[in-house]
Amino acid sequence: MATILTVFGTGEGQAAKIADSITEEFRARDHEATTVNVAEIDPELDINEFDAVLIGASVHYGRQQKSVRKWVKTNRDVLVRKPNGFFQVSGASGAKNDEGLVEATGYVDKFIDATNWQPDRIALFGGALRFSEYGFLKRALLKFIVRNQEFETDKSGDAELTDWESVVSFAGEFTVFVEERLSEAVEAD
Ligand SMILES: Cc1cc2nc3c(=O)[nH]c(=O)nc-3n(C[C@H](O)[C@H](O)[C@H](O)COP(=O)(O)O)c2cc1C
Repeated sequence: MATILTVFGTGEGQAAKIADSITEEFRARDHEATTVNVAEIDPELDINEFDAVLIGASVHYGRQQKSVRKWVKTNRDVLVRKPNGFFQVSGASGAKNDEGLVEATGYVDKFIDATNWQPDRIALFGGALRFSEYGFLKRALLKFIVRNQEFETDKSGDAELTDWESVVSFAGEFTVFVEERLSEAVEAD
């Protein structure tokens, strides 16, 4: 059993939902999962107490949450010594075409540059477009951002672009990677 810390940032809750689904899968695989929203993080929380760390963030106006970048920079030296991963939630990843992939990868590259952290594992997930909940300006800006994308909307005009199967399978692959890295470390001792 490994202790896995997940720290995520979210603007409107979709990255939190994804973090919850990942946490459920970690637990289903008998790992001890601690999941925290970076906005509510206990300053006493000690990254040293965990075997592995997963970071999550969503993209708003081309960037992930500043608080996530800050947390990564502060904890980088310990983070790089543990099996680690990063998941990103964006409208671009909901596009399922090459343009969307290029855009989403571009956001990750900027994150890596800004934090100087190259994650061991990276996952890109589509987010949610909750047009009915946004004010006029936000709705107009988001419609512009996703103007080249095709997606199905529900009755209220909202769209959930998250592929939940790929979320669960990433969580499973991440645990396998963590287990392997931890057993290699034991053998090397
Ligand atoms: C104000 C706003 C700006 C956004 N900007 C981008 C963007 O620049 N690129 C993108 O791919 N998705 C963008 N999105 C889509 C979000 O990444 C998507 O809604 C995601 O689910 C948000 O996750 P959260 O609910 O955890 O904040 C934006 C969404 C909003 C509401």
